[in-house]
Amino acid sequence: MMNALRCQICGETYLGSETPDRCPFCGAHRDHIKRASEWIDYGEVELSAQSREDCERSLDLEMNNMAFYKCAASKTEDQISQSFFKRLSKQEGEHAELLCEMMGIEEPEAPEVACSDDDAENFKEAHMRESRAIRLYQQIANRAPEPRVREVFRALTDIESEHLVVSSIYR
Ligand SMILES: [Fe+2]
Ligand SMILES: [Fe+2]
Repeated sequence: MMNALRCQICGETYLGSETPDRCPFCGAHRDHIKRASEWIDYGEVELSAQSREDCERSLDLEMNNMAFYKCAASKTEDQISQSFFKRLSKQEGEHAELLCEMMGIEEPEAPEVACSDDDAENFKEAHMRESRAIRLYQQIANRAPEPRVREVFRALTDIESEHLVVSSIYR
């Protein structure tokens, strides 16, 4: 039977007979995927000054990583590397969109980010970028007073940790 499922992190809807392991849009763990009828719209979140600053910094990071992965996907000639970089670029884009929604702002223009012509170099850089995101998101999840901000940054920490594991396989 087909169900309408909806991700409690990014808000995207998924039609399927089974809950996927991870959200096909943002990469959130299946624990965050609900029946669409049970989904809660958090929309814009009232943010403390610290959380707003944290979300802005995270948005920069996500936009930058999205552009980096897009560049890496355009340079590679390997199909597996390409699907990896493309998937990460899309997921980071979803994360950026989510942060904008929480802050109630328009999504900024994507920055121009350079990358290497060499896949191995790009995997190395992916590893560094994901490690940096994980460290930042853990800090944010721990200090945020808003339950929704904690929920989102815990989920993002888990997603970027999965990116790190996958990037380590190819590195
Ligand atoms: Fe999602
Ligand atoms: Fe991300």
